[in-house]
This record gives sequence, C-alpha cells and structure tokens, in this order.
Amino acid sequence: MTNPANPLREGLLARRIAEPCTIVVFGVTGDLARRKLLPALFNLARDGHLPQSFAIVGFSRRDWTDEKLREEMGAAIREHSRTRPDSDREMEDFLARVSYARGDLDDAESFVRLKTQLEEIERTDRLPGNRMFYLATAPEFFAPATEMMGAAKLVHPANADGPWTRLIVEKPFGRDLESARELNAHVRQGFDESQIYRIDHYLGKETTQNILAFRFANSIFEPLWNSRYIEQVQITVAESLGMEGRRGQYYETAGALRDMVQNHLFQVLSLIAMEAPASLDAESLRDEKVRLLRAIRPMTPQEVATCTVRGQYGPGSLSGTAVKGYRGEELVDPKSVTETYVALRLAVRNWRWRGVPFFIRTGKRLPKRASEVAVIFRHPPHQVFEDTSMEDARQNVLLIRIQPDEGISLSFEAKRPGLKMNLQNVKMDFRYGRSFGNPAPEAYERLLLDGLIGDASLFTRADEVDRAWEIITAIQKGWAQMPAPDFPNYDAGTWGPEAADRLMHDVETGWRRL
Ligand code: BG6
Repeated sequence: MTNPANPLREGLLARRIAEPCTIVVFGVTGDLARRKLLPALFNLARDGHLPQSFAIVGFSRRDWTDEKLREEMGAAIREHSRTRPDSDREMEDFLARVSYARGDLDDAESFVRLKTQLEEIERTDRLPGNRMFYLATAPEFFAPATEMMGAAKLVHPANADGPWTRLIVEKPFGRDLESARELNAHVRQGFDESQIYRIDHYLGKETTQNILAFRFANSIFEPLWNSRYIEQVQITVAESLGMEGRRGQYYETAGALRDMVQNHLFQVLSLIAMEAPASLDAESLRDEKVRLLRAIRPMTPQEVATCTVRGQYGPGSLSGTAVKGYRGEELVDPKSVTETYVALRLAVRNWRWRGVPFFIRTGKRLPKRASEVAVIFRHPPHQVFEDTSMEDARQNVLLIRIQPDEGISLSFEAKRPGLKMNLQNVKMDFRYGRSFGNPAPEAYERLLLDGLIGDASLFTRADEVDRAWEIITAIQKGWAQMPAPDFPNYDAGTWGPEAADRLMHDVETGWRRL
C-alpha cells in the first residue's frame, strides 16, 4: 500500500511516475545490474517516469567508492542502454543520484550501516522513506539478505500509512518445490506477500503482454480458443547462445528445465491458455494464471518417460563457425548430465482444453534465436475441394512471434488465381516495427516501473511459483529414476534431439520449422 493521504498520487499514477523513493540494488557489481537494471533506471529517468527526487544505492562486497560505482555504471549505461544520453550533463545528473554501500549480504553489521546510510540520504534529499530493494544477487543470498533486512528494521510494515517498502527478487526462486517453499518462508519473515515482487522478465516483454490484449481486447478469437477448433499449441523459446563464457557455473546447477521452463515458458503458457480474468488487477490476473497451472497435473514417472525429452548439445557449428559442445564450455563438468534442451507434451485438464496437447520446447545452441507461440487449428470437418486431399490443405496457424521480428500472423488457404480451383496458403501479418513507430521499452524498464508504482500484475505470486515447481519437480523426480541420459544427443546448431519428435507421434504437423 502506498500512502493514501498523498493527494498527488493519483496524478502520478495516471502518468505512471513513481513516488519519491530510494532504490537499493543488492549485487550492483554483477552482470544483471550493469546490463539491465542501471540502463533501465536511466531510461525511466530520461522518459520522465522517475520523480524529481529519487536516489539509487548500490550494495556489494567489493571495495568500491561512490566515484568508482558512478564510473562503472556510466560505462555500463553507455554500452547497454536502449537510448544514448543526449549530453554528458544528462548522464552526470543521473549518476549524481547513485551512491555506494559496501557490505556483505550475510553480515548483520552491513545492514545496520546500510540503514544509517539510507536515513542520511532520505534526510538530505528530503525523501519520504519509500524504499525499493532489488535482490540482483546470487540466489543463495536471497534468504540471508531478506532476513538481515528484517532484522535491521529496514522494512516498513505493509498496509500501514506512511512510507512503503517493496522487494524485487530475481529468479531463480528456489531450485525445486521444497527449496522454493523454504525460501518463501524466509522472505516472508521480513516482508509481507504484498511487498514481494518476484520477477520474470518474460512478463515485461511487450509481446508477452500483447497476448492479453490479443485475447481479451478482441471478440473474434476467443470463441475459437478451445478444443473444438484448436488441435494443438506449440510454444518454442530457441536460443543460439551457449554459456556466454561465464554462465557455465550457474547453468550446471540449473539446466533448461529450471532456467527457462519453470518460469518463462510457463508464464507464456499461462497467458495463452488461462480463462479471461475479471480485470487486469494483480490478483484477478494471477488467480487465473494459478488456476491454469492447477489444471496441469504433475506427471507420474511413467508420463515423464513418454511426455518429456531432454538433450544436451555436443560440438557443432553455428552460422558457419565451429562451436564447442556443452561439456567443453568453461566451468562445466566434462561429464555433465545437465540438460540444455527440454521438450514437453502437456495436457491442460479442463473443459476448454480437453484433448489439446501443448508442446513446449526450449534449448541452447539451436540454429537461431526465435521465440514463438503457434496455435494450430483443426482441419475443416469436410473437404469440398476436389483436387485437394485433407493432407494437402494446410491447417490455419496463428503465430505469435515473441522475438525477434515481433508480431502476429494468421495463415489461411486462398484460391490461387487461375482457371482451376487451386489452393495456396497465405498470411495476414501484423508487425510491431511497421505498425508502431516508437521503439518498445526494455522488459526491465516496464517491470521496475511497475514495482516502483506498486503494480504487481506482471510479477509472480507465491502460489504461482509453488505450483510451477510442483509440475517441474515431478519431472525432475521422474528423470532421477530413469537411466542416466546419453549426452550429448544433439549437435550445436541443430534443432535438438531427434527423440523430441516422438512427443508428436499423433499430430501430423510435427514441430514447426522456425
Ligand atoms: C534468462 C535465462 O532468464 O533468460 C537465460 O537465465 C536466457 O539462460 C534468458 O538466456 C533468455 O532471455 P531473453 O530475453 O534473451 O529471451
């Protein structure tokens, strides 16, 4: 809750401007802060979404000073920001708000010092005491850091008049059901659920949010959005990247199922398949997403064997360049059995989706970066075109391109001009680039601003994370009971293991070619 007594708040909300506050970034020397968070804050400030008075405090254990942090962040913003500063002055004004707090995330003293520093900044900058804490640290620090914040009394109580405190937590939120619940219990010692914003940057993407607009701001698609007309849905998040040098160490403990499916792919799936919420407020929207995840039953070990495929890339080539296999990447065990590819066949057990398979796949070192949702419609019930067999006529496909080449297309059959009735598949195509002039903000800009404004719609709630882990943990357990996988089983630069095709044994389309 924000201060209801503030008469200016309504105006600020309408223009989406945050209230005066201090933003504390834990893990400020890390990659995320440099590549995403500080550039996003800079763009929010440029575009007038941050208030006149705000401060940013970067917290880390390195022996840095305010000057050093400003220098580093200035360079990071110049390198990674979506827009360039108009002048050195603009950058200096922004960096003047940034200061450094040296400390250890599991050391109570560091948090007491942080408190003194925040109070000092709030006093000199005349800030009302609103605080946004952003945990951009390694996940093992999430629990100790939140406990320390609570113990040092850095957190204002929720639902009280007066300044607010909010916490944004990065992924991964746990590594299985048990650890996610444990982490939640820790975080809840310092913060109320209404103060916790669990981030999934896929929800910050324009194209992901557009799924809501597409489904619920139009009347023509929703009547078809069910098992009567839809045969299957395929969700793909393909990446050509490998371990980018330094990510091997983290990835070894994650794998594609935890890194991508539990969060990003399930979020996209939820938005595609959920029922219409009564409104877009945070609780209504998240209620529907949780309801959808509840309709996906955790798999039995038998189902894990038949409805999941995992893979790991071996050496191969991408755009004509030879690349290493996963086991040859830096900080990766040469005998690693971590999966870099997953494909699942999921059933959504409710009236709307009875009998419609949802195929999802994601992988590293696939031939290209491409994320899309393909909704594949059934054949017409009867074929009237003489020379065309049912197999020749292509099914209607609604394609939601999440990235790159963002847009939506619908393919359908048309009569090819000529003296015969010949059919040809054609497309209606909407492209962001062509339809909208202005460039889209980065996902982190949207999410940071929502967090600062107190809109939790695009953040995941505890019960949502919990249910996603229930589904994922059943798969992990099933895999643990199976013989060790024979990795590597796909070459870098190919579309994943051949075994993924067997998930599609009863659909004629196979996996879509991207
Ligand atoms: C992150 C994963 O959450 O998402 C990465 O940890 C992955 O492994 C990244 O590369 C993909 O994000 P995007 O926005 O590039 O699709």
